[in-house]
Amino acid sequence: MTILHIDSSISGEDSVSRRLTRAIVGQLAKGEVVYRDLAAQPLSHLTERGQDPGLLDQFIAADTVVIGAPMYNFSIPTQLKAWLDRLAVAGKSFRYTESGPEGLLGDKRVIVALASGGVYEEGSLFEHQKSYLKAFFNFIGIEPEFVSAFGIGMAPTEALERADAEILALAA
Ligand SMILES: Cc1cc2nc3c(=O)[nH]c(=O)nc-3n(C[C@H](O)[C@H](O)[C@H](O)COP(=O)(O)O)c2cc1C
Repeated sequence: MTILHIDSSISGEDSVSRRLTRAIVGQLAKGEVVYRDLAAQPLSHLTERGQDPGLLDQFIAADTVVIGAPMYNFSIPTQLKAWLDRLAVAGKSFRYTESGPEGLLGDKRVIVALASGGVYEEGSLFEHQKSYLKAFFNFIGIEPEFVSAFGIGMAPTEALERADAEILALAA
């Protein structure tokens, strides 16, 4: 089993999402792990010529993808957005049919580790992290799994305990 491990937090060793992805990968890893640190080695903004097909190929080659996704300004880090921009490629990860769009990458496990300072109800005007990531992966045919350290700015111990329990449950 090949795992693609993606981090995007700018907070280095203090990062909550990095702590979570490390725990998830440590728990799941049985084969090769490919690691990409999008904060240490950021991708450029997407341009018409800068599609980097290798990034989509690397995503397709992984059986399981573990993604650290902090909330920055109600959404995800721009570093993570730049990577997602390389995954949505017509004809490879999705296509349009007469009845609408069809995702082409269904056969893959994607686990997203969320972290946020605050707490957001489903449907909140301010929440563009989990809902965006769910929509994005659904569009390319994947139902992502989420673990979440939400409310890290309010009650960090409880947030980490909840997330750790969710990580243990992933293996079940
Ligand atoms: C630049 C920046 C922007 C942030 N914006 C938000 C925000 O809009 N909403 C929120 O709830 N928390 C926000 N936070 C708090 C982070 O989501 C929280 O610290 C979380 O742990 C970040 O994940 P990380 O520790 O892996 O970097 C922000 C933090 C930073 C550094």
